Amino acid sequence: MSDLVAPALPARLAVIIPVFREAANVVPLVERLDVALADLAWEAVFVDDDSPDGTAAAVRAIAARDPRIRCIRRVGRRGLASACIEGMLSVSAPFVAVMDGDLQHDEAILPAMLAAVERGADIAIGSRHVDGGSATEGFSAARGALSDAGTRMAQAMLPVPVADPMSGFFLLKRDLVEEIAPRLTGRGFKILLDILLTLPRRPQVAEVPYAFRAREHGASKLDATVLLEFAGLLIDKATRGLVPLRFVAFAAVGAFGVLVHMATLAALIGLGLGFDAAQWAATFVAMTGNFVLNNRITYRDARLRGPALWRGLAVFYLVCGIGAAANVGVAGLLVRDGAADWGLAGAAGALITVVWNYAVSSTLVWRAR
Ligand code: GDD
Ligand code: MN
Repeated sequence: MSDLVAPALPARLAVIIPVFREAANVVPLVERLDVALADLAWEAVFVDDDSPDGTAAAVRAIAARDPRIRCIRRVGRRGLASACIEGMLSVSAPFVAVMDGDLQHDEAILPAMLAAVERGADIAIGSRHVDGGSATEGFSAARGALSDAGTRMAQAMLPVPVADPMSGFFLLKRDLVEEIAPRLTGRGFKILLDILLTLPRRPQVAEVPYAFRAREHGASKLDATVLLEFAGLLIDKATRGLVPLRFVAFAAVGAFGVLVHMATLAALIGLGLGFDAAQWAATFVAMTGNFVLNNRITYRDARLRGPALWRGLAVFYLVCGIGAAANVGVAGLLVRDGAADWGLAGAAGALITVVWNYAVSSTLVWRAR
């Protein structure tokens, strides 16, 4: 693409491409889309989470010549699913597709996916697990086994049979996205599953086979936290959002913190420290540990770094300190009034603390959505 491309017709299909550290894949991907979608008015929106490798700059270099290409650069945010949602909501084309930006998805099937939705399907899925599709090339044996397990769990929850609910390659009408967007969790890697579990009625699904390719440049971003978020997505959808996911994670981290506290306390007393000093030190260690885990897991999408990290830690100490004071105060009142025995009073105090810590952390420390 050496020449300036003339302004295109309003796009019929918008291709949303979430990218993180994919600088080397941007140019080849646009070239391939150009070939695959030659007969169509299309546009592509790359949604980049401020990759340090110049991904956004690579997109903008093309966009400077080609009005079909756009870039959304999100700062201080991370997340594949939320990137896809923001991309889909940024366009006005009647049809939107989502595809990975690492060349693992086969862009050549996009016209067939579009045709399937134009013929009446609610959603077309690029599928590795129907006749003609394959996933052998792109996956290690371990990744394959993991993906199979996730697929079976997801299938158990779906209202309709879908061979490849873990696909990140799909196409649907923009109207439908607009309708369900407020109810998507937007967490984790599995945006298609999020959509399938949110659709208001039994969807008509068309699966179009393709061969999942091996990655040539860059590395996969799937890690342990992504797996936790997958479990979280299923729980959220199974409980219809009744239990706020973030609260579950926060409480789990808190419960783990109690163990850390007790272990530290025992170790320090074992070393000969007095109880009061050991209790203070254990509190400090547990709070710091909780902060680190919450920053990595509970608030992963709003993770603090650099100076903001230290500011957040200081506020977190303050919040938890107030929470602890409230805990002791409430529990003491209940016991003094004879309203509860010490066990119940202690539990009530602890519950108030965790709810307080969670509510205030979510707004003052991490400013999560
Ligand atoms: N904006 C943004 N933010 N993009 C991200 C993030 C993020 O936090 N994490 C990953 N991506 C982008 C990657 O740059 C890539 O374009 C795409 O999302 C998929 O990420 P990979 O890291 O390559 O994931 P994978 O290959 O393990 O799995 C993908 O392919 C599967 C097969 O279709 C995912 O898309 C799965 O959902 C999909 O099933
Ligand atoms: Mn990939």
